[in-house]
Amino acid sequence: MWQMRPTDVVGRDLSGAGAGRWAAPGRVNLIGEHLDYNGGPVLPIAIDRRTTVTAALRTDDRVAVASESFEEPVTFAVATEPGEVTGWAAYVAGIVWALRSGGYDVPGLDLTVSSDVPIGAGLSSSHALECAVAVAVRDLGSLDVDDIGLALAAQRAENDYVGVPTGIMDQLASLCGREGQALLIDPVALAVRPVAAGWTADDLVLLVVDTRAHHSLADGAYAQRRRECTAAASALGASTLAGAALDEVDALADATLRRRARHVVTETARVQSAVAALAGREWIRFGELLSQSHASLRDEFEVSCAELDLAVDAAVGAGALGARMTGGGFGGSAIALTPVGLAESVAEACRTAFASHDFAPPSVFPVEPAAGASRVA
Ligand code: GLA
Repeated sequence: MWQMRPTDVVGRDLSGAGAGRWAAPGRVNLIGEHLDYNGGPVLPIAIDRRTTVTAALRTDDRVAVASESFEEPVTFAVATEPGEVTGWAAYVAGIVWALRSGGYDVPGLDLTVSSDVPIGAGLSSSHALECAVAVAVRDLGSLDVDDIGLALAAQRAENDYVGVPTGIMDQLASLCGREGQALLIDPVALAVRPVAAGWTADDLVLLVVDTRAHHSLADGAYAQRRRECTAAASALGASTLAGAALDEVDALADATLRRRARHVVTETARVQSAVAALAGREWIRFGELLSQSHASLRDEFEVSCAELDLAVDAAVGAGALGARMTGGGFGGSAIALTPVGLAESVAEACRTAFASHDFAPPSVFPVEPAAGASRVA
């Protein structure tokens, strides 16, 4: 029977052994920001924006990766080492390196990447890329590794190959996402518990406001927050900062460490309340917690920026039940839980506020809780 030969997004013949497509979503963190590396709970969703990787086996020990968004294809040896591949392809090389150094036999591969996760928007486009490659490598190489093992490999790729000291929330969200569910993640136990995210049935929509303000975790501010949290935990003699008591935190002598620790401890309590509100579909309460989280990130953890604060204020002013920055901060996106009937007014209020401050127009769009990384063709 005649069959169309599979091609990748740039039209290259991909009829090589095992050719197929794998996809992994970006994420939005509902609440629990800067907690994953402090031992506290986080509550992300995988979103209906994904990175897709078309992959096929090669007959040699090399990996070739092309992308719709970046012009130059990149080729490297399967036995790659940190420092050899830089730029966007480092996320791909990092996965290959982390799996190999974990003892897995990674085959040579041809990969082509396409994505509708906006880059630099704080929606984990880089983790979506890592996780799409990771599930493709697992299937094509028949690797005996579960999603938690892949998440750990993706974290190592990011920490030790790309060189950004992120936690493990984003990788777990991208790999373990569930349609219609948020994920309550314990980053210490590496346990993921789905919690029904039923706002759609109650005529609410979760809007993302991509501020288009520069977002990069690689520029050192994220690492600085991590160091401050480590210093606060050690000043308190706590094994994890999230587990510290608020009265002890308030007695910390250093004002900066005190503020950072206050965020971590109060945010941990907010996640617990938010899980109860989510499960009970108490949306007003859930919205309040989102807004309180933002205030804490703005005032105590100091990872917001003018565009994020403006988006949050404009969204709440136009009727959102609550809004907050999501992800690492310093730019990127805010989220706003909004009655469906007010979604357009909220989007318009954000655009108007940005225009009046001479900020570039934000991109506002709805997201839904989506399934995690998997083979799609
Ligand atoms: C980034 C990191 C995560 C997490 C968040 C902040 O998204 O990749 O591990 O630390 O920032 O909550």
